[in-house]
Amino acid sequence: MAGSKGRVLVVDDEVNLRKVLTAILEQDGHIVEQAGNGIEALKLLDAFKPEVVITDLKMPKLSGMDLLRELKKRSPGTQVFLITAYGTKDTAVAALKAGAMDYITKPFEQDEILELVAKALRRKRLGDSNDSDASLGERLGMLGRTPAMLEIFELINRVADTDSTVLITGESGTGKDLVARALHDNSSRKGGPFVHINCAAIPKELVESELFGYERGAFTGAVMSKPGRFEIADKGTLFLDEIAEIPVSIQVKLLKVLQQSEFERVGGTKSLKTDVRVLAATNRDLEKEIASGAFREDLYYRLAVVPIQLPPLRERRDDIPLMVRYMAEKFAKKHARQVPAVDDEFVELVKSYNWPGNVRELENVLEKMILEHSPARLTVGLLPPEFTGIINRDLKPDQHAGTGTLKDVVRAETRKIEMDLITRTLSETGGNVTRAAKLLGLSRKGLQLKMKDLGISRDNKT
Ligand SMILES: Nc1ncnc2c1ncn2[C@@H]1O[C@H](COP(=O)(O)OP(=O)(O)OP(=O)(O)O)[C@@H](O)[C@H]1O
Ligand SMILES: [Mg+2]
Repeated sequence: MAGSKGRVLVVDDEVNLRKVLTAILEQDGHIVEQAGNGIEALKLLDAFKPEVVITDLKMPKLSGMDLLRELKKRSPGTQVFLITAYGTKDTAVAALKAGAMDYITKPFEQDEILELVAKALRRKRLGDSNDSDASLGERLGMLGRTPAMLEIFELINRVADTDSTVLITGESGTGKDLVARALHDNSSRKGGPFVHINCAAIPKELVESELFGYERGAFTGAVMSKPGRFEIADKGTLFLDEIAEIPVSIQVKLLKVLQQSEFERVGGTKSLKTDVRVLAATNRDLEKEIASGAFREDLYYRLAVVPIQLPPLRERRDDIPLMVRYMAEKFAKKHARQVPAVDDEFVELVKSYNWPGNVRELENVLEKMILEHSPARLTVGLLPPEFTGIINRDLKPDQHAGTGTLKDVVRAETRKIEMDLITRTLSETGGNVTRAAKLLGLSRKGLQLKMKDLGISRDNKT
């Protein structure tokens, strides 16, 4: 294919390896230069302008890592990948984080090298035509501008089109599914299946047959054989969600597939091959699970080749204003409502909230507000009762509804919140007590009693 051949610089202190690599690459039509160490490589940079640099990790004078850092500074678009000896996974991950495109472990296959170089060239040329970090998140379908998120976007971008296993961690609602999807969609497997399996949703005794399939007669009820998710995901991506829920007994089998890409169906004897890229996610602390014996350490290391840890929303509050504006518009359009203006005070309050449910909670709050009020402006008054707590906490003591003992004050405050919530719900249901009770999680009778106690009548509107 025209244009698929490029300028490649091979850096290795071992003459023989350098020669072999050069021969392989030249045979494939690339223009190759060689350097015996990092210093030499940097000297060649201006004259040769390599598109791809393949460098050994361990070299005298300037190590592969130092060369990588220097290259990223002087010529950020150049694609670098490292050759490492088997068992130096930590360094390899550090290399990915420092901007390496990929790494390859010795001994490697000729095809492996050629494929990587082809991929690097595609990426280099793509990068040259639309290089803008600001749009990276957009391209991945994720919002965020805080340094922590930008770093994550870059990492996703770099590891998406590799077969490295990625372990995505973070609290519920921080975007783990979104990351898994972005990794698949930005890989050359994107034409293949994306198979999502939620390990927490499957009864423990069925996990094995779900993952690996079963043969007819493997257990009572297995009247036909059935392929498992590993087979279904062939040539695509398998996303093992809530990985901490996999029983220890199955973890061994999982580890084996990851190491050998081979497995047997339950009740089967034939060894099946599969070509899947595995992603895993959890909101649990796997290191704790390992300590308690609920998760195998060897499996953990095999899964966490590239760890991506999503910070909770409260640790990236500066992303909130952007998210509020973007999501308000998205939900308004989705429900054919006017796009609301956003009060500064609203943004400030929303920013100061703790968001235990993270981005999902933010989405829910905004969607509900837009759906129920079709507001022209997003104002503090539209926020649900959990936010009232923040408002009340900011009040000065003499502004409290009641005075006297702590108990009196609490009772008065509670009444105020109840009153506010009930009248608001009633106005939403158009005065329908049965529906309002349902929304509030009360019985109809219970709500009527509360209303009487608070002095609210049925047609009371806020
Ligand atoms: N950075 C982001 N930009 C835009 N939307 C986001 C972002 N992060 C999360 N979301 C949205 O928030 C919601 C929750 O995200 P997601 O389902 O990926 O979370 P999760 O970490 O998988 O949660 P859980 O642990 O409960 O499975 C989704 O609707 C997702 O689209
Ligand atoms: Mg999820």
